[in-house]
Amino acid sequence: MKVLAIESSCDETSVAVLEDGRKVLSNVIATQIETHKKFGGVVPEVASRQHVEAINVVLKEALDEANVSLSDIDLVSATKGPGLIGALLVGLSAGKTIAMALNKPFVGVNHIVGHVCANYISFEELEPPFIGLIISGGHTYLIEVKDYVDFILHGRTQDDAVGEAFDKVARSLGLAYPGGPIIDKLAREGKETIDFPRVMIKEDNYDFSFSGLKTAVLNYLNSKRQKGEDIIKEDVCKSFQEAVVDVLLEKTFRLADEKNMDKIVLCGGVSANSRIREAFEDEAKKRNKKIYYPELKLCTDNAAMIGSAAYYTYKSGKVDEENFANPNLGL
Ligand code: KG4
Ligand code: ZN
Repeated sequence: MKVLAIESSCDETSVAVLEDGRKVLSNVIATQIETHKKFGGVVPEVASRQHVEAINVVLKEALDEANVSLSDIDLVSATKGPGLIGALLVGLSAGKTIAMALNKPFVGVNHIVGHVCANYISFEELEPPFIGLIISGGHTYLIEVKDYVDFILHGRTQDDAVGEAFDKVARSLGLAYPGGPIIDKLAREGKETIDFPRVMIKEDNYDFSFSGLKTAVLNYLNSKRQKGEDIIKEDVCKSFQEAVVDVLLEKTFRLADEKNMDKIVLCGGVSANSRIREAFEDEAKKRNKKIYYPELKLCTDNAAMIGSAAYYTYKSGKVDEENFANPNLGL
C-alpha cells in the first residue's frame, strides 16, 4: 500500500511517500526555522502563509523522489491536530482535496501518535506494547502503547512542554531559536554547578512540570546580572539539562516497572538530545530494558511519521470520519 502523508502543524511543511507503514520512499521537509529565528519563535500567521507557498512544491518533490505519480497512491493522510490552526488547515485541505480527486481513502492523523510511529520507521522489528515518552516543543506525554492505535495516557505536563522550557531558557541566555540543540551542545562543555529543582519528581503520579524549573533558571540569571557577576552559559545549560533528565528518567522508568515493560520508546524533537539519549541508555542497561529513539531526521516534525500512523490507523479499521483541524487534539 502506497501512503501519501502531509505534515504542516507547526513550522515544517513536509510530504512523504511510504510503502506500508515502515518503508520511506521519500520524506521531503521544508523548514521555516530561518524565518522564525528573526522573531525568536514561531509566528502563527507567518507559518500559515509559508505553508501555502511551500505545499505544492514539496508535494511534487516528494512524488518525484519516490518515483511515483498521484495515481499510484492508495491512501492519503495529513496531520489534523494538535498544532497551529492556520498551519494545520493548509496540509489538511491539500490532503483531503487530493483524496477526493483520486477517490482514495483519507486518514486524519494525530500529530502526537505520529511522533511515536517515527520509531516504527527507524526500527523494523519494533512492535507494541511499550512505554512511550513524547517530548517535543509542544507536548510532554508519558503513555502506554498497548497496540498500534491503542494508548493509555498516564502523565503529561501541567504547564510548559519540555522543548518549550529548552527554548525559553535558551532565549534568556541570548541563544538562537530553536534553543534545544544549542543547549545540548553547550551543556557538553559545562559542569553541573547549580542545583536547579527536580519539580514533581517524588510525587506519586506520572505528570510533569517544567515551568518552575524554567523560572528557577530565569531567577538565577536575573540575580547574577543584578549583582554584575559572570554567567557561565555552559554550566547553566548543563545544570538545567540534568534537572530535566532526572525527572524524565525517574517517571518513565517508574511507569515501565509498574507496567512490567522492558521497551521504552522516546520520540519528539527533544528526543534528539544527546544527554537524554545517553542517560536513558545507561539506566536501561542497569535495569535490563531496551531504549528506542528515532534517527535524528525523524525526531523533529516530518511527514513520514504521519504516514506510518495513517497506515496503522487505516489497517486497524478505527478511522475517525471527522477530519476537521483541531489545534487542541489530545491523545
Ligand atoms: O517535535 P518538534 O519538531 O515539534 C513539536 O511537535 O513541538 O520539536 C521541536 C522541539 C524544539 O523545542 C527544539 O528546541 C527541541 O525540539 N529540540 C531539542 C533538540 N533538538 C530539538 N531539545 C533538546 N535537545 C536537542 N538536541
Ligand atoms: Zn512535533
